[in-house]
Amino acid sequence: MKIGILTSGGDCQGLNSALRAVVKSLFFRFGENVEIYGIRDGYRGLIYGNIEKMGWNDFSGILTLGGTILGTSRQPFKTMCTPLEEFKGKTRLDKMLENCKKYKLDCLVILGGNGTHKTAHLLSQNGINVITLPKTIDNDLWGTDMTFGFQSAVDIATNVIDSIHSTASSHGRVFIVEVMGHKVGWLTLYAGISGGADVILIPEIPYDVDKICKVLQERKKNGKALSILAVAEGALSKEEAKMSKKEFRAARAVMQEPSISYRLANEIAERTGQEIRVTIPGHFQRGGSPCAYDRMLTTRFGTAVTEMIANKEYGYMVALRNNQVVPVPLEEIAGKLKIVSPDCEEIRAAKALGISMGI
Ligand code: F6P
Repeated sequence: MKIGILTSGGDCQGLNSALRAVVKSLFFRFGENVEIYGIRDGYRGLIYGNIEKMGWNDFSGILTLGGTILGTSRQPFKTMCTPLEEFKGKTRLDKMLENCKKYKLDCLVILGGNGTHKTAHLLSQNGINVITLPKTIDNDLWGTDMTFGFQSAVDIATNVIDSIHSTASSHGRVFIVEVMGHKVGWLTLYAGISGGADVILIPEIPYDVDKICKVLQERKKNGKALSILAVAEGALSKEEAKMSKKEFRAARAVMQEPSISYRLANEIAERTGQEIRVTIPGHFQRGGSPCAYDRMLTTRFGTAVTEMIANKEYGYMVALRNNQVVPVPLEEIAGKLKIVSPDCEEIRAAKALGISMGI
């Protein structure tokens, strides 16, 4: 049996731990009857045939390693079916199908997030046996309660907010910590609550800058000069939320500040006269070792993949639902985003503590 394996899209903690779990459990179960083909740099490697046979040792000693030993790349789904001159009119999809055939792959194991899943579904629709694992620090994949990488990123972003607390307290300053997540706010919400932020702004709940200022001024009046705002990089104002996509893009294109946090800092400083600083941990949130939770989750996901290969159950993503690892059909999840619902339990918990969601 020949298994191809690749990691695609933005990296996150736990990719190597997941690769290890899949490959080790395959070798334990099938011994010499399984061959592993590592595909380099995500779908790019499958398109260009950058594929090599790998052994047990390649996947040993990588449990705690950040990043992905296979490399990764972003290959937009919308470009997959475009005929290309460099392929003599064939598409990237054609090339991927050709390489699956050339290497006689019985199954393709794909570790990825949202974009990756659309292409995985496309491959599955075109006759490839596919099983996927949900990875992303954003936790925005439909169909699973949890993606791996998320908890590790929450830990990092929370540590940043924790550290900011002491300096914000010494100086009596307002701090904005900008957390990753362009479209969804799970990471900001979890890190904001865990780090004790006073205001949490996420893309799903457009903010009102005057309401935020009111919260900060009231805190100051009550003797709390320090305030911490956890702001998702994709946060937007209520005025921006009313714009069309085109208008929004145009407005952001002429924005003077490098990110939404800096703009917000200027707006708050102008209105309140308070001293504000911005901290952006950025890709730091995606680096380093997976936390124990992610090591455990990837081990559960990876070994479940082997079980599914043994049962020839293809066309599924392994998902966590109600703390059970279950298969979810790719057609149910491809192209869907799991966003934060404004009345979800976590938001209610934040509000119950008096945390402002900026509205
Ligand atoms: O999807 C994961 C993520 O880290 C998002 O939170 C972030 O908006 C984006 O990727 C950053 O992408 P890139 O690594 O391509 O800059």
